[in-house]
Amino acid sequence: MSDLEALKKEAAVRAVALVQSGQRVGLGTGSTAKYAIEELGRKLAAGELSGIVGVSTSEASEALARELGIPTESLDPRPLDLAIDGADEIAPNLDLIKGLGGALVREKVTEVQARRLIIIADHTKLVTRLGEKAPLPVEILRFGFLSTIERLREFLPGGRLRQPGAQPYVTDNGNYIYDAGLPADFDPRELERRIKGTLGVVDTGFFLGMAERAFVAAPDGVRELI
Ligand code: 5RP
Repeated sequence: MSDLEALKKEAAVRAVALVQSGQRVGLGTGSTAKYAIEELGRKLAAGELSGIVGVSTSEASEALARELGIPTESLDPRPLDLAIDGADEIAPNLDLIKGLGGALVREKVTEVQARRLIIIADHTKLVTRLGEKAPLPVEILRFGFLSTIERLREFLPGGRLRQPGAQPYVTDNGNYIYDAGLPADFDPRELERRIKGTLGVVDTGFFLGMAERAFVAAPDGVRELI
């Protein structure tokens, strides 16, 4: 395991230590969240936890949870006790950019119902302002996507449709993703309102005011940000 992977795992283990038996837990998506799901599975198998129910934020996390024997339920209106997920950027006030892994909409729809959203990451995800390193993923409807992109480009000119190969990337919801470059200076809440008001947009990777805390692992230890 590389040093960075070891750090991600360390952060995940710290977050899973918060989970108590009998809780309903939102299962995040991505390479860091995977370590949290694995740790939950390990604790269940070892009898260190019992009665856990996972609510998955993607098909991939659902498949992993099942493989590890973690009971899962689909999302319903009941609150989740907590959710554990990774992030692409973490600002000092715990505002986030998420969605480079493509699960932003299911993550947001799930995690908004969590009493506590716990973020896990390695130190490379820390930024002083959002947009410093990562683009902003924006999930858009497939129908009319070129028109939606044109509307977005009127105020976010730097972006592009996510297209890893010959075909565009398709989310678990059957939509496309526009990875928007962000301007040097912007108000995330104002920009979130403007993007979400654009016809054809499903949601954005801004997770503003949602995270309760973050465990951020660096070579000199895990920092807990609140
Ligand atoms: C998926 C996400 C991920 O949490 C985010 O991309 C971080 O992933 P990783 O832990 O692999 O760096 O938002 O939609």
